[in-house]
Amino acid sequence: MSRLSQRYHRLTVIGELDKFHFACVPCGPGAEQRGNFQECDLVCTKGRKMRLGSRQTVLGAAATICLFLLGALFARGQTPARAGVEQKPLLAEQVFKNVQLLKGIPVDEFMQTMGFFAASTSMNCTDCHTEESGGDWAKFADDTPLKQRARMMIMMVTALNRSYFGGQRMVTCWTCHQGTTRPRTIPLFSVQYSDMWDAEPDEIVETPGRASVDQILGEYIQALGGAQRVSNLTSFAGKGTYEGFDTGYEKVPVDVLAKAPDQRATIVHMRDGDGTTTFDGHLGWLAAPERPLPLMELTGGSLDGAKLEAELSFPARIQQTLTDWRVGSAMVDNKEVQVLQGRLTQRGLPIKLYFDPASGLLVRLVYYSNTPVGVVPIQIDYADYRDVSGVKMSFQWIVTWTDGRSTVALSELRANVPVDPTKFAKPAPAAAKPATQ
Ligand code: HEC
Ligand code: HEC
Repeated sequence: MSRLSQRYHRLTVIGELDKFHFACVPCGPGAEQRGNFQECDLVCTKGRKMRLGSRQTVLGAAATICLFLLGALFARGQTPARAGVEQKPLLAEQVFKNVQLLKGIPVDEFMQTMGFFAASTSMNCTDCHTEESGGDWAKFADDTPLKQRARMMIMMVTALNRSYFGGQRMVTCWTCHQGTTRPRTIPLFSVQYSDMWDAEPDEIVETPGRASVDQILGEYIQALGGAQRVSNLTSFAGKGTYEGFDTGYEKVPVDVLAKAPDQRATIVHMRDGDGTTTFDGHLGWLAAPERPLPLMELTGGSLDGAKLEAELSFPARIQQTLTDWRVGSAMVDNKEVQVLQGRLTQRGLPIKLYFDPASGLLVRLVYYSNTPVGVVPIQIDYADYRDVSGVKMSFQWIVTWTDGRSTVALSELRANVPVDPTKFAKPAPAAAKPATQ
């Protein structure tokens, strides 16, 4: 191990927050550092000379953390490239004006990070940003004291994980905040003595004596109508209503289209244009008005989610689609349900499927999306199963994520209808909303 890899440089952050200290951790053994900007602004490479300055600045610390985040991303991005991808998704700093720390991540993941902040602190977008940002994407670039505070928090969390948890992401915004703006410091009896405090663990813990994965999935397929009928379903087209934060909770028409084994499209007809989500079996996109980008390629957890929803539209092969299955239990609506946890890839994030033991049907899907500061959950609750050509299909589902909740309620679902294959392809960018200011 090189001498340098054990040296830590402490940076003091100036200004109001001068009580915080950030560790600037050098590169690990084998790697060398290139510092071509300010103090501690390091790039870890092989075969390069290292240089460390001595001036201590906030910017330096910020840049270091930024590179740490980048490092984590590069480590994550080692999965083999998908065939047929010519274009990389746009990165946050290519789209936004004032990104100082959360660089090197796709816009999709950047927005999930904002959701992580909101969920952890119970703050709205406009609390950290400005009132005007509610109606104008450009205004999100303005700095506010709370936004600066959040930047310091990102640096603190990164430093904590680096210094005390070997760089593993053990501390996140949620660890301290738990949904409060100002973390509590005094224990609450209501939590200590509450029966309700049976929150589900992040990962399912296998409990012995439960039904097996085969059994639970077998019962599920049986409950849907049996393997034969389920595999006879090869496409469907549904119509109904959608309501969510993006429609101001007004009901608007929606089309849901799917084709076996794994293609799906949802088109929400909003007042100011269509919001289209597609998954073509490999890639996914979201084209919607009032988003930072009129067309965004889905990445990470959003892409996994699109794939899962497409696969679960024709669930005959779900057991093969996921790996590393575990069986546990959880509470949904005060009822104990069976939970299966799997992953799309061996080292991927967990995916949880919740089955009602009485009906055998899928009542909830939870999947996760990675961000530089933590993992956000996305939950879909399925209800109103009705018979369509001998197969039970959910006519109502509620999607809950860090930025809101939306409900789709179908009024009609036609099975085995021809669906135009272009419906699942990359959609056209959403039409720009006419300027209202
Ligand atoms: C806890 C505070 C906090 C909350 C809540 C928050 N943000 Fe942010 N936001 C930040 C910080 C900090 C940055 C700058 C990140 C950086 O410099 O790397 C930022 C940057 C942004 C940017 C980039 C702006 C630009 O042009 O540089 C956008 C867009 C944005 N946020 C949108 C949102 C949305 C939408 C929400 C609500 C879902 C939200 N934010 C909630 C703290 C917050
Ligand atoms: C180690 C615990 C801890 C972690 C982790 C943590 N915070 Fe904090 N945070 C605090 C404490 C304590 C305060 C309140 C300080 C005070 O009251 O002045 C605070 C305050 C804040 C505030 C200011 C709230 C206000 O009204 O003044 C924001 C914004 C914030 N945190 C965002 C975040 C974000 C975003 C993350 C994750 C990147 C995060 N915090 C992670 C402990 C933490």
